[in-house]
Amino acid sequence: MTKVLLATVKPFAPAAKEGMANIFKSAGFELTLLEKYPNQDDLIKAVADVDALIIRSDIVDEQVINAAENLKIVVRAGAGYDNIDLKAASAKGIVAMNTPGQNSNAVAELAFGMIIYLNRNGFNGTAGTELRGKTIGIHAYGNVGKIIGYIAKGMGMEVHAYDPYVDKVIIENDGVKSENNVKDLYKKCQYISLNLPANNETKETINYDLLSLMPKGATLVNTARKEIICEKSLLKIFKERQDFRYISDITPDCKEQIARDYAGRYFFTPKKMAAQTAEANINAGLAAATQIVNFIKKGDTTFQVNK
Ligand code: 3PG
Repeated sequence: MTKVLLATVKPFAPAAKEGMANIFKSAGFELTLLEKYPNQDDLIKAVADVDALIIRSDIVDEQVINAAENLKIVVRAGAGYDNIDLKAASAKGIVAMNTPGQNSNAVAELAFGMIIYLNRNGFNGTAGTELRGKTIGIHAYGNVGKIIGYIAKGMGMEVHAYDPYVDKVIIENDGVKSENNVKDLYKKCQYISLNLPANNETKETINYDLLSLMPKGATLVNTARKEIICEKSLLKIFKERQDFRYISDITPDCKEQIARDYAGRYFFTPKKMAAQTAEANINAGLAAATQIVNFIKKGDTTFQVNK
């Protein structure tokens, strides 16, 4: 019998787990849950005899892969797969997949929730600011970026985007101004929404040169990954510019310093939670379960990321 492990430090909503259990039951697969596990060793032990693995931001490094002797497929129920050692997976012939787009709406909605919270001074009753008429720049126009643009337009914002991997026509068909140059995006937009993956190409690329270009009222919104930010630059900008603000769903390593010196100019969620909605859990969880069944039963490798 095919054994599947759902390993999530951050558990899915009950309805998502129920739906996944039903998919595996119908397929004749055995599902085991490992949730809120305190140590990486727990994951290493739990993968020993599984054929398939579903994770979220859980770390699947070389050690996990080597411990999973029967593993054939690992599915990241979500978008970013920087937590999977793809090289180690490929070396063992293990297929790695993500579930693109399934939690994007939840991420985009949280971006605006955080912006409005900070713009209204934590809802403390003092006068805040509005989004209508302001400019927003979407840095990377993927599934999340597209929804950010859609919501921003609904709020009366002027929307720009930069993505060297997306055809200009696709961006402009959405009523979004496509920028040819990343610097132009930062120069023109008060709000920048970061929607890039973390990889060798993007690590620490959000740096002083870019941030210093932003106009007055500069607000950086990160629902992507902390690794894309150059934190030295972030602190430099905070120090130099009274108007600079940083909103992030991923706590930076320099959080203590920002909290100490720049009160009212930042907001960080206590725990990464952009994709943590019942709807996103159901979408991503069911997609992951279906992808596993289709791969094991039919060899379907759609959404493979380590080809
Ligand atoms: C993703 O890459 O899909 C998001 O960052 C969500 O991550 P999570 O599943 O750990 O909440």
